[in-house]
Amino acid sequence: MSLNIMADYILGIESSCDDTSAAVIRDGYLLSNVIASQQVHKDFGGVVPELASRAHEKNIVPVVSQALDKAGIKASDLTAIAFTRGPGLLGSLLVGTSFAKALGIALDIPVIMVNHLQGHILAGFVKQEGKENRQPSFPYLCLLVSGGNSQIVKVNGPLDFEILGQTIDDAVGEAFDKCSKMMGLGYPGGPVIDRLAKEGDPDRFVFAKPQIPGLDYSFSGVKTSLLYFVRDEMAKDPDFLEKNKEDICASFQKTLIDILMSKLVKAARITGIKDITIGGGVSANSGLRSRVEAEGRKRGWNTFLPEFKFTTDNAAMIAVAGWFRYLAGERTPLDVAPVSRIADY
Ligand code: KG4
Repeated sequence: MSLNIMADYILGIESSCDDTSAAVIRDGYLLSNVIASQQVHKDFGGVVPELASRAHEKNIVPVVSQALDKAGIKASDLTAIAFTRGPGLLGSLLVGTSFAKALGIALDIPVIMVNHLQGHILAGFVKQEGKENRQPSFPYLCLLVSGGNSQIVKVNGPLDFEILGQTIDDAVGEAFDKCSKMMGLGYPGGPVIDRLAKEGDPDRFVFAKPQIPGLDYSFSGVKTSLLYFVRDEMAKDPDFLEKNKEDICASFQKTLIDILMSKLVKAARITGIKDITIGGGVSANSGLRSRVEAEGRKRGWNTFLPEFKFTTDNAAMIAVAGWFRYLAGERTPLDVAPVSRIADY
């Protein structure tokens, strides 16, 4: 293979939670994106941090080797290494961070730390050969919805983010996961509820919606509302859940989407911004995706929905976010340590 010596080859490394991922991009174009998802957590109803760290340690070398092989390049062709510094599970982040730094030293190339959430927000900038590669214009709004976050972010540029609103308690993904667990439907809850909701009536049951000022969110009340509703109905009919789970899921999902959309619409109106993206694990939700598109058609938005493979944790989004930082001249000192929480961008 003949390489263009002027091209930037960025290796991305993602290990913030339970996916070990490595990706290579060339000048923003995706060459490979390898993801090893950990199955060890399935029986525990959630991610077990200690098991996640161990699995990352086992996976990281083969995953990176595979990403380089699939990209058709050697490690020595790399220009820089972008890695997730946080937020996430500290033990998991340590694996990716230490690996990135060690490889950077070995190859004598820069390493660039990336905020995981910025990766989700910029995922739409990963270009793919043979695809249309539509991209939002700055400034745009991103509805960032995952297991740990629910935010509306104004993206002024690839390095300039402003949080307009965020959850004051649970993240929306947590509401999906906790309610699924409570109904005995399994983990992670989002995909299960999404699937059952397709078979149910979204207007059959009504759950409490929060009254939070401004652009902030709250999801703990709706979770409690579902919990009490199911408990009361089960006291009358022990088979209530089994007989009605499709309608419960459809109604619950609709409530969550209504809450998300009301603030997104408000943010778009206040800022006058019409380029709207979504990101994070919950952006895979089929109901949310169709509502964003429907609102977009109604309001003249340009909507950008991530491909499913970029909704979950992946290193391609880390590579592209790192590439922007590389182009801006950022280099990360080698004494950097991962952080489990990052309050701002
Ligand atoms: O961004 P992500 O992969 O990881 C972190 O939060 O770190 O998001 C995971 C979340 C989980 O809460 C999961 O239930 C949710 O994304 N999720 C979904 C769907 N697929 C994943 N939620 C709703 N509908 C889905 N189809």
